[in-house]
Amino acid sequence: MTSRRLILTRGAALVGTASSSLLLSGIARAQPAKVRVGFMLPYTGTYAQLGVAIENGFRMAIDEQGGKLGGREIEYFKVDDESEPSKAIENANKLVQRDKVDVLVGTVHSGVQMGIQKVARESGVLSLIPNAGVLAATRSLCAPNVFRTSFTNSQPTLALGQPMVARGHKKAVWITWKYAAGDDAFEGFKESYTKAGGTIIKELGLPFPQVEFQALLTEIAALKPDAVACFFAGGGAAKFIRDYAAAGLKGKIPLYGSGFLTEGVLQAAGPAAEGIITTLHYSDSLNTPRNHTFRLDYAKTFRSQPDVYAVQGYDTGLLLAQGANAVKGDLNNKAVLYKALEGAVIDSPRGKWTMSKAHNPVQDIYLRQVQNGENKVIGIAAKALADSGAGCKMA
Ligand code: BEZ
Repeated sequence: MTSRRLILTRGAALVGTASSSLLLSGIARAQPAKVRVGFMLPYTGTYAQLGVAIENGFRMAIDEQGGKLGGREIEYFKVDDESEPSKAIENANKLVQRDKVDVLVGTVHSGVQMGIQKVARESGVLSLIPNAGVLAATRSLCAPNVFRTSFTNSQPTLALGQPMVARGHKKAVWITWKYAAGDDAFEGFKESYTKAGGTIIKELGLPFPQVEFQALLTEIAALKPDAVACFFAGGGAAKFIRDYAAAGLKGKIPLYGSGFLTEGVLQAAGPAAEGIITTLHYSDSLNTPRNHTFRLDYAKTFRSQPDVYAVQGYDTGLLLAQGANAVKGDLNNKAVLYKALEGAVIDSPRGKWTMSKAHNPVQDIYLRQVQNGENKVIGIAAKALADSGAGCKMA
């Protein structure tokens, strides 16, 4: 009898005896458990499409790694956060306490992110932010276990003021949803626009996710600024663009924005979006082999066109895979894991980016214009732009 046959025969003899459960539990122990990944994203409401695109992008990156992280299988958990800040802590704890995830991927809405941030800081769970740009997450409330793969809300607008003034628009009205994302975006806009010599003549706002824009558009018409700049995103952005045109402002007062205004909404906004100029860290039309391949693969897999949210989800998967490979799947090896995430260079469809000391991307910001239903790159608005990370002190 060969030694292999002997082992098999002995093993077979054990099965069916009292020792079989011991043998099976030994086998079970030898298999590393699955990595538990929790998505906390909006799957309903005005940001629903954004959540779906992020999850799609993340799964695509993981599929490219053979569906594994550091050699381990993955089990996914999901919570719809509804972009509702008052439920954020409870929802994050569903993933952290109940489902015991190893990694929390979320979210989109800055107010909800503040709840995740609290849970992440208290529990120490690895938290990857695939969108929400709230400044505090990588400034005063930064943490060793929290990494953002998207932007701070002021990064795109820090690059917006100069191109507006360069086009002769010296008096602007700012309009936004009044919550952390809009307020942070205004911070970047105010700094860049005033530094370039522009004057903000009025700040307008309405609560998230309201879309009754009519009274505010009437006010803009009366103020007669040279241009309007704004932060809106998702379904509400499409309606704002349509209402802006319907109010007769398109063609009279140029509309600018943080690039989320025209992301994933161009079909819904239709011709009303043509000509809008925005700044963002991605554009559909980036003419690189990396972007072409990504767009083709995404469209084939999901039968829809990717946008910046899909790219951010994809990059979150790439980042996690780099970290997991560095620790050979042992995500409890935190010192080595965090070092790998901090040192990662992400070869993204948006262009290569690195992680700042405060754990936020250092990245190029593109100047884009909607032309023939596409966000076309018309320039680079800022090269390797880093958020200040002000107040971030890692423990
Ligand atoms: C935010 O709440 O941070 C946000 C939401 C949608 C797009 C961009 C930022």
